[in-house]
Amino acid sequence: MIKFDFNNMMDAYIGEQGISEKDIEAVLDKAQDSYAYFEKNRGTGWMGWSELPYNQESIVRDIIMTAADIRAKYKNFVVLGIGGSALGPMAVYNALCHLRYNELDESKRGVKFFVEDNVDPERMLALLDVIDPAETMFNVITKSGATSETMSQYLIITDILKKKCGEDWAKHIIATTSESKGNLIKLAKEEGFKTYFIPDGVGGRFSELCPVGLLPAAVLGIDIIGLLVGASEMDKKCNGADPYKNPALMAAVLQYIAMEQKGKNISVMMPYADSLKLMADWYCQLWGESLGKAVDFDGKTVHKGQTPVKALGVTDQHSQVQLYTEGPFDNVITIIGVEKFRKDVVIANGAEQFADVNFLCGHTMSELINTERKATEYALTRSKHMNRTILLDEVNARSIGQLLMFFQLETAYCGKMLNIDTFNQPGVEEGKNATYAMFDRHGYEAKKAELEAAPKKNEKYII
Ligand code: PA5
Repeated sequence: MIKFDFNNMMDAYIGEQGISEKDIEAVLDKAQDSYAYFEKNRGTGWMGWSELPYNQESIVRDIIMTAADIRAKYKNFVVLGIGGSALGPMAVYNALCHLRYNELDESKRGVKFFVEDNVDPERMLALLDVIDPAETMFNVITKSGATSETMSQYLIITDILKKKCGEDWAKHIIATTSESKGNLIKLAKEEGFKTYFIPDGVGGRFSELCPVGLLPAAVLGIDIIGLLVGASEMDKKCNGADPYKNPALMAAVLQYIAMEQKGKNISVMMPYADSLKLMADWYCQLWGESLGKAVDFDGKTVHKGQTPVKALGVTDQHSQVQLYTEGPFDNVITIIGVEKFRKDVVIANGAEQFADVNFLCGHTMSELINTERKATEYALTRSKHMNRTILLDEVNARSIGQLLMFFQLETAYCGKMLNIDTFNQPGVEEGKNATYAMFDRHGYEAKKAELEAAPKKNEKYII
């Protein structure tokens, strides 16, 4: 099991910047309410994601068969999606495939893998420079079936497929979407696309463990059963309202105290492993979009949230860490460590004459990265900056499943403690609606009028 070490959030280690056991005691009722609320609503409403490790047996079987078929017939697998429909697949790919997967010789990998999560025209054309759509399976992922970015990509790609593949074009598309609403499901039925469903109670950023993430992972040969087993292991470990026995609940309690009482408005996610680099991107969406809310459950304006920032160890020791050790006491730094790297490299001899280089020789790179991780932890703690460590024995499907579930549970518990709706995203919707209005979409006339009435920019301030 992954371990959650919160020593360096406590006052015993970082003095008055830290949290005391009394502080934890004082919010225990709130924590227990949050746990009870989660347990009561498991699998219902927006908590559908909590049951994903247990209720997908036949879907998983279908996905594994489909994935094998894709690997046999296609050279490329391209995900078209954004936000929660892209960040999970990217994070799991990065964690569990070769770090230069697409560049490997064909004999050493499966289909090439791409996730297109932007509408930058240069990026779309760059993709088309390196894949032949006729040899590609496109997985269009959008829960709402209406997101402009994903639907524009869908339109561009289907136009190309129709020209290149004739009647067979629809065989190149798999739609992952809501069964009951949106346009993609209607198109899927009309065109006969193979389809997977995103369950109603599974929001975008909580969807990695449903077909959104499972199909791309299976195509890459990742052990998706292992991912789900890992998630269930973490779910079971987090069984109980005592934070000292439920790591995700303790993590939520400490973050709650950190942001509400200790002025820690920033959450830095800093894995010490390149394979976990994109896990930080996935976490940033989960934490930021879930907790950043203007209004609470009682309709009160509260402006809650903690700004997520991604960093990478050791790379960012040579940039951001200066700020984290000497700058303001406004953040919680989460270090993710890996005890055993899957591969290792010995640092060769060759500088015997230079004592200040030679000390490295004979050690392994994993020793170096892990020593630097512990050294950064020490430096942060010494300077009284709040930090915590999540330790993975090894990066594998089970530990990644555990990690995903840990952060999802932490977010759900913390959102409830903050008394906000963890599962909506009105701020994101606002931007989507303004785009529709500017594109003169039918039904958005009032929004267009609102935009036109907004104060015009002052030329004086553009220099
Ligand atoms: O977490 C969320 O709900 C969002 O980030 C969505 O995933 C994102 O906006 C994409 O939405 P959709 O999957 O409907 O295209």
